[in-house]
Amino acid sequence: MLLLLQHLYLGAMLLLTMITHGSTAAPTGDRDRFIYNGFAGANLTLDGVAAVTPAGLLVLTNGCLQSKGHAFHPSTLPFRDPNARNATAARSFSTTFVFAIYGQYADLSSNGLAFVVAADRAVLSNAMPGRNHVGVDVNSLKSINATDAGYYEDDGTEQFQNLSLISRKPMQVWVDYDGAATQVTVTMAPLGLPRPKTPLLQASIDLSDVVRAKAHVGFSSATSSLVSRHFVLGWSFALDGPAPALNIAGLPALPPAGPKPRSKVLEIVLPVASAALVLAVGIAIYTLVRRRIKYAELREDWELAFGPHRFAYKDLFHATSGFSDKKLLGAGGFGSVYKGVLRKTGMEVAVKKVSHESKQGLKEFISEVVSMGRLRHRNLVQLLGYCRRKGKLLLIYDYMPNGSLDRHLYDQSKSALDWPQRFHIIRGVASGLLYLHDDWEQVVIHRDVKASNVLIDGEMNGRLGDFGLARLYDHGSHAHTTHVMGTMGYLAPELGHTGKATPATDVFSFGAFLLEVTCGRRPVEKDGLNNRVMLVDWVLDNWRKGSIIHAVDTRIPDGYNLDEASFVLKLGLLCSHPLPSARPTMRQVVQYLDGAMVLPNLSPAYLGFTTIERMYNSEFNQNVMSCVSYTAMSDLSGGR
Ligand SMILES: *[C@@H]1O[C@H](CO)[C@@H](O)[C@H](O)[C@H]1NC(C)=O
Ligand SMILES: *[C@@H]1O[C@H](CO)[C@@H](O)[C@H](O)[C@H]1NC(C)=O
Ligand SMILES: *[C@@H]1O[C@H](CO)[C@@H](O)[C@H](O)[C@H]1NC(C)=O
Ligand SMILES: *[C@@H]1O[C@H](CO)[C@@H](O)[C@H](O)[C@H]1NC(C)=O
Repeated sequence: MLLLLQHLYLGAMLLLTMITHGSTAAPTGDRDRFIYNGFAGANLTLDGVAAVTPAGLLVLTNGCLQSKGHAFHPSTLPFRDPNARNATAARSFSTTFVFAIYGQYADLSSNGLAFVVAADRAVLSNAMPGRNHVGVDVNSLKSINATDAGYYEDDGTEQFQNLSLISRKPMQVWVDYDGAATQVTVTMAPLGLPRPKTPLLQASIDLSDVVRAKAHVGFSSATSSLVSRHFVLGWSFALDGPAPALNIAGLPALPPAGPKPRSKVLEIVLPVASAALVLAVGIAIYTLVRRRIKYAELREDWELAFGPHRFAYKDLFHATSGFSDKKLLGAGGFGSVYKGVLRKTGMEVAVKKVSHESKQGLKEFISEVVSMGRLRHRNLVQLLGYCRRKGKLLLIYDYMPNGSLDRHLYDQSKSALDWPQRFHIIRGVASGLLYLHDDWEQVVIHRDVKASNVLIDGEMNGRLGDFGLARLYDHGSHAHTTHVMGTMGYLAPELGHTGKATPATDVFSFGAFLLEVTCGRRPVEKDGLNNRVMLVDWVLDNWRKGSIIHAVDTRIPDGYNLDEASFVLKLGLLCSHPLPSARPTMRQVVQYLDGAMVLPNLSPAYLGFTTIERMYNSEFNQNVMSCVSYTAMSDLSGGR
């Protein structure tokens, strides 16, 4: 028959289990008392995860999840004295021990340590409740008496001091059973303090009813916490007398205390949270690094002044769905153009990605870009800002829903523009170019006037785009870069030797543009024999033959005003004059177009001039030729 006296709750409890085998073994003096000042060399009976360290520390649980440990004095003790006057009465006993619990979470259950008097060591399998209190239990886990762990001060105030059982600080416990008074007394204090006079807890119970002849004494501990460890540093026991005093100084040292105990919520939350945090931090770092690379921009001090015109690459990246092919509007000379929608404003933009390896001239160009951002004219594509990345310059423009003019001229799938539309576009582009040359605070040379750089807005207005971009390449240090950039057929002959862009070179390009729009032909084409045919020369030929009107685009629907068309062709020839000084200014061009001035007759001398083709051959050496855009392919065509 088993009788259990569960004796002390310490964050769990102390169990006293007593055996009643009706043994008649006589107690001996040696068997009635013992003392362990540390457990080195002691013959404790251990099971579960219990172990004794070389230094003599009894480790009941070692921080493994769901661990149990028991340690017993090797021999049983005679709790009855057959020679006593009353042989069935339980003997008085006294025990003291020093323990420490390295707990993590104050209110976690199954986290306790118990002093046990047990009839059979095998009974100790129950999980023990683990609140921060001390209790005396007999034969059940229900305490006869229990209270918060702590002690009453001896200074006369009797003030109660809480103790945290899991504080990692060593504490001493005294348990006494008075057989005559049939009372259990429990006292505890931090290690080093003398035994407090006022006990923490008392329980009236006659153990004669519970204990029998012999019992095991020892400690039991169980934990479900990964980080809880239970230690016993020293222990003494005596029957019928006070427990021998422990040599406090001689007790083994505890392992380093480590982090402070935390609350139960954190018990579950913390490991998960820490793992999550590590993961989150990892992800965050990964993301940041990736974003840094993905969205890396170049920014320098001198750009500070241009702040408002500076776009974040990230915004552009998102606006264009990561510069996806689906958003590609076109690709050509200076780079690819993507359609984008700015998230913040919902504004539609065109983002031009320009390859640019060299830093030379970039600062100038950016300042120009920014100042050009202030250019506002309804026949200019509004430049909104820029962004810089390694090797890349991104220019952000207003989005033009109707694309570039050359697609309207050459794309057979599109219905051809009628004459009033063409004239309206020509008129618009002329006024935009005049604004650049004359009406703004400084002269801006476009350098690349051509049909593919004219964009059509929602109201079919022609708008000049890409102004000044060619200039960026003037300063380039590429091996292949020369001082002339532009598009073959639009380049004024004098550029071949001066290399200097002037308003007059823009006028020459504008002349080629006029012919292109009216004839629906590119400025340079190949004939059947693979010879280069200059549009200017062809129109001149027609003019010489007195049939200039034959040069007009046959695709123009609904007929056209013959006078107006031949007037535009003549103006185109005038602008394409090989001599810069013989070309009109843009102001004059606008006046001619408005009818405010009468177009002068083309001088017969013009007829005798070296054709543009021959001038090209003489002025542009092979080196230059290789660098200009010969095919005149559209910058903005090829979109889907
Ligand atoms: C240790 O205790 C066991 C009984 O628990 C006993 O059999 C053994 O002889 C003891 N060993 C020593 C060295 O005392
Ligand atoms: C012996 O002790 C038990 C338990 O305290 C008690 O019930 C019993 O009466 C006692 N017997 C004598 C003869 O005193
Ligand atoms: C001791 O702890 C209990 C429970 O945590 C608390 O209610 C009490 O106020 C504490 N007493 C002192 C003196 O700290
Ligand atoms: C529990 O212990 C306290 C403190 O010693 C004591 O005052 C109280 O009377 C005890 N309660 C019972 C039921 O023994």
